Amino acid sequence: MKRAFLRKTAIILAAAALAGSTLAHAWNDPDNGALDVIYVPTPHQVVKRMLELAKVGPGDIHYDLGSGDGRIAIAAVKDFKAKKAIGIDLDPQRIRESLDNHKKAGVGDRVAFLNRNIFETDFSEANVISLYLLSTLNLRLRPAILDMRPGTRIITQSFTMSDWTPDHFEVVEFEENGHRGSRNVYLSLSRPRLPANGR
Ligand SMILES: C[S@@+](CC[C@H](N)C(=O)[O-])C[C@H]1O[C@@H](n2cnc3c(N)ncnc32)[C@H](O)[C@@H]1O
Repeated sequence: MKRAFLRKTAIILAAAALAGSTLAHAWNDPDNGALDVIYVPTPHQVVKRMLELAKVGPGDIHYDLGSGDGRIAIAAVKDFKAKKAIGIDLDPQRIRESLDNHKKAGVGDRVAFLNRNIFETDFSEANVISLYLLSTLNLRLRPAILDMRPGTRIITQSFTMSDWTPDHFEVVEFEENGHRGSRNVYLSLSRPRLPANGR
């Protein structure tokens, strides 16, 4: 009981951190106790800039971990011609929305969505991953990310990879659905592990 309350409180606090003063309308289903973070979509202008910064192109396999309505994975293939993109989300409602958006976008089988937990899914085939999660979740994913091929591009929104200094940082402005705002975007490149600092 106490555990459930603490978990719900943590998710609500995380939601406040995620939404900030913008897009608060996007709060969705905070009672879904299985989720590590609630759904807040990345504005389309920010999606475009994230994929530009990651230099997504025909040779790339992109994974969006916690993929919401699928917009980043769909844009990676539709607008940036990625070879393949996979969106993973634990919330079945988000997967239904993604499949609808997938159908409308007409991007065929180069985009797929999996209704799974990101912490229980192998994403090691990717060479580009995007994350709009929380710092704590990015940190939990970091060991698996650091095991990926050197040169893998990790593009995060709003939250960093903790003490892993990004290779590039940018503030991206957007205007969407009557909301103006900006999001911090971070690009990090994975490098071979260095025994000295364990990364
Ligand atoms: C802040 S939203 C980001 C959505 C999308 N990436 C975007 O930027 O528009 C985070 C997403 O992570 C999903 N999520 C939360 N915990 C998860 C988990 N353990 N495994 C997979 N997805 C999860 C939520 O359902 C939500 O759609």
